[in-house]
Amino acid sequence: MTYQDVLETARKNMAPKCRVCRECNGIVCRGEIPGVGGKGTGNAFIINYDYLSKIKINMDVIYENRGQDTSVELFGRKFAAPVFAAPISGLSNNYNGYLNEQTYAEILVPGCIEAGCAAFTGDGAGDNFFLDPLKAVKAAGGVAVPTIKPWAKEDIFHKMDLAVEAGAMAIAMDIDSAGLPLLAAAGKPVNAKSTAELTEIAAYASVPFIIKGIMTAEGAKKAAASGAYGIVVSNHGGRVLDNTPATLEVLPEIKAAVGNAVKIFVDGGIRTGSDVFKSLALGADAVLIGRPYVVAACGGGAEGVALYTRKITAELQEAMKMTGCATLADITTDKVRFTK
Ligand SMILES: Cc1cc2nc3c(=O)[nH]c(=O)nc-3n(C[C@H](O)[C@H](O)[C@H](O)COP(=O)(O)O)c2cc1C
Repeated sequence: MTYQDVLETARKNMAPKCRVCRECNGIVCRGEIPGVGGKGTGNAFIINYDYLSKIKINMDVIYENRGQDTSVELFGRKFAAPVFAAPISGLSNNYNGYLNEQTYAEILVPGCIEAGCAAFTGDGAGDNFFLDPLKAVKAAGGVAVPTIKPWAKEDIFHKMDLAVEAGAMAIAMDIDSAGLPLLAAAGKPVNAKSTAELTEIAAYASVPFIIKGIMTAEGAKKAAASGAYGIVVSNHGGRVLDNTPATLEVLPEIKAAVGNAVKIFVDGGIRTGSDVFKSLALGADAVLIGRPYVVAACGGGAEGVALYTRKITAELQEAMKMTGCATLADITTDKVRFTK
């Protein structure tokens, strides 16, 4: 199976909601929610993708060769590359139902592990959105990150208990879900959480707790102050607020604000190993990738997911080779530049 095979099969299996475009850039699907697009004009998804293409990599192949090690340590574990599948839920209404919450997780979670990486799983209006993927998390020995919506405190604690019972290596919360139109439409709106509330939630977690949906230095400082292990710099793939800046644009100021106090993940429009390289150069410890993982799963099952993960890892390794980076720590800001 090649990645081209995966895309061709996915095109058949995913019609009509996701068109499996040559570039997964938010243009064809803009504004489609339910669907896979960005909210409103769809700009925030497109801006994430476009911004990445403005960042260029500084090539320099005169150096003493020490090979390239793409591995990273997070949650007290070693991963083959700083690449995670992002949580995606609503497979039946956002996509065409070819996979559902359970079958997607049954493919995604082991597929990522096979390639030495791991997946985040999602949550949504129906309880099964969280519970069905949790079965796959448990079956995989907990090597995944269940992601809980910012519900009422008792519901969060209950879902955290279930995630810990499943052996989850970490738990995340997509704090930005307050802007999700589908939750509001289903009569399950979620709201902002204060730093005090987040501190209580982070303290309740017996595993590393990650706050997803941070887009400002101030927000990152509040997340760090709450005791979170990590943050995901994310605008939910452009699905919660129209016209946000690109995640890669705000990443350097967030890194400057919190330094090493929290692990920094970033997502939004990341598609290739070069994009992973750019994200690390601008301050991320690791990335999440969303939509392309659904394509890989629908087009190639667990093998497609592993193949896509290995492809990204190989591309990252190639970028490191061409820039003289032997380890991820060598991927510093001076390795990239911006063009207009
Ligand atoms: C259809 C769809 C469903 C999503 N469901 C969730 C979810 O349940 N929880 C969550 O934290 N993020 C969810 N996200 C956001 C992704 O985790 C991620 O932030 C985003 O897709 C990253 O952008 P990318 O798809 O351009 O890589 C969803 C995104 C899409 C497109």
